Amino acid sequence: MGNTTFAIIKPDAVKNNYTGKIYNHILDSGFDILCAKLIKMTRAQAEGFYGIHKDKPFFKELTTFMSSGKCMVLALSKESAVSEWRKVIGATNPEEAEDGTIRKLYATSLGENAVHGSDSDENAKIEIAFFFSDIEIIQNK
Ligand code: CMP
Repeated sequence: MGNTTFAIIKPDAVKNNYTGKIYNHILDSGFDILCAKLIKMTRAQAEGFYGIHKDKPFFKELTTFMSSGKCMVLALSKESAVSEWRKVIGATNPEEAEDGTIRKLYATSLGENAVHGSDSDENAKIEIAFFFSDIEIIQNK
């Protein structure tokens, strides 16, 4: 397993002022934050990032939401980072997320579920490269 993953604090969480709480939750869970920045995605960026879902019925809803406001993108480091981060965020649908997980604490619905996490080491690399340059990542390692 790799030691790096990619995370997003999504527009619902930023709008609801949960950015600081989620940032602390990340640190308290033992992750090192390699890189973080607050951005507002264009629709084209959201469509590119979530291209894997382009044929899903929720694609339009998802990309409209992800380009609706500011979000924070982060590269995180920890041993087995992908699976560790997925444990910390909980199930995609907050109604199914375990107590104490970020989605249980801060998400409002399946569509507006507060945070994103890569689902594999391969996708973590692709997703980090989508938002961060090598220089940004390497300087902080
Ligand atoms: P995320 O982990 O960012 O990856 C894809 C996102 O699509 C997922 O979180 C959900 O927010 C969203 N999603 C998945 N299923 C649905 C659905 N049925 N309706 C709306 N959004 C969905």
